Amino acid sequence: MLNDEKWKAYNREGDRRVVVTRQLPGERWLKILTEAGCRVDVRTSQDNPGTEEITAAIGDHCDGAIGQLTEVWGDRLFSALERAGGKVYSNYAVGYNNVDVDAATRHGISVGNTPGVLTETTAEMAVALTFAAARRVVEADTYVRQGKFTGWLPSLFLGELLHGKTVGVIGAGRIGAAYARMMVEGHKMNLIYYDLCRNSALEEYMAAYADFLVSRGECPVTCRQAGSLDEVLEAADLVSLHPVLDPSTHHLIDARRLGLMKKSAILINASRGPMIDEAALVRHCRKNPAFRAGLDVFENEPELKPGLSALTNVVLAPHLGSATGWTREGMAVLAARNVAGILMGYPAWKRSDILPFLDDVPPQAAPSIVNAEEIGIPEYVG
Ligand code: DGY
Repeated sequence: MLNDEKWKAYNREGDRRVVVTRQLPGERWLKILTEAGCRVDVRTSQDNPGTEEITAAIGDHCDGAIGQLTEVWGDRLFSALERAGGKVYSNYAVGYNNVDVDAATRHGISVGNTPGVLTETTAEMAVALTFAAARRVVEADTYVRQGKFTGWLPSLFLGELLHGKTVGVIGAGRIGAAYARMMVEGHKMNLIYYDLCRNSALEEYMAAYADFLVSRGECPVTCRQAGSLDEVLEAADLVSLHPVLDPSTHHLIDARRLGLMKKSAILINASRGPMIDEAALVRHCRKNPAFRAGLDVFENEPELKPGLSALTNVVLAPHLGSATGWTREGMAVLAARNVAGILMGYPAWKRSDILPFLDDVPPQAAPSIVNAEEIGIPEYVG
């Protein structure tokens, strides 16, 4: 029996049952699930449900679940879901470092995520943090609100000009590449990126842009893949982090690597907090007042490491990378279609363009199942 103050049931007479651990934006996602014959139990409370409460919500009949990046979806929840007859779990996020995919696979649970609708949105947030840090927007805003602005001054809040400088991108996947394009096209920055895989599409795009600039009589931009992460840190005036968080990227930016960066460099993180050793960053920013950082994510979210919030050379945001109405509603639709698709026995979509799933008549497939092959879900051909 669910606590009625914290949970709300929709379509009680549905044959299938789906548990959703947070109220999601918009109404389409709920319609998708109820039209697939699901009763949907939604946790309406804003506090974080623990594993215990989610296990109780799964109960002895649950076909699928949609959960959040703030929850640990590991062996306990997936075995509870399997015992309850469950077949699918979708994270309401593109990142799924909170999900033990191997455990899900062992329990026969398909795992979905929500890529494709937050690429530009998250890249734009990284750009917003970049300029907030470079041009000291938050410090200046506070100054004005405190009534300290008594007139224009030649040296008031001098910041960094980014135009024509070098942007370093760590992790040139969808979001990293979108950020790179925004900074290069918008501000004629030169790009140096580090990724285990070469992003040829990005390089070709940059080469074509360089040719275009030359055809206009302007200086071309440059783009190259670095041989190491350290090389990017040493060369770039601005570095933005976009790799996937896994054990190999935990504390990717530590005290040694911060020490490689230029004294007036800018470090942006709109991916996952544990990528940066936050205590080392606090020490580095204290020692180097010209160094700036823009953080949308934190090592132990929602907590901040001591001293971080007192630093005026750091701009902070509460994990807002994907926070636009269109994106958050799109994520909800994709999560619902992942769950409904698997429950209806649909194949898995393997193409990179996921936007057809936002249409009223989407492909008959589950949009993004990360362990489809391991579970044996066939690939959509159509
Ligand atoms: C994601 O989807 O991984 C984002 O961090 C959510 O904003």
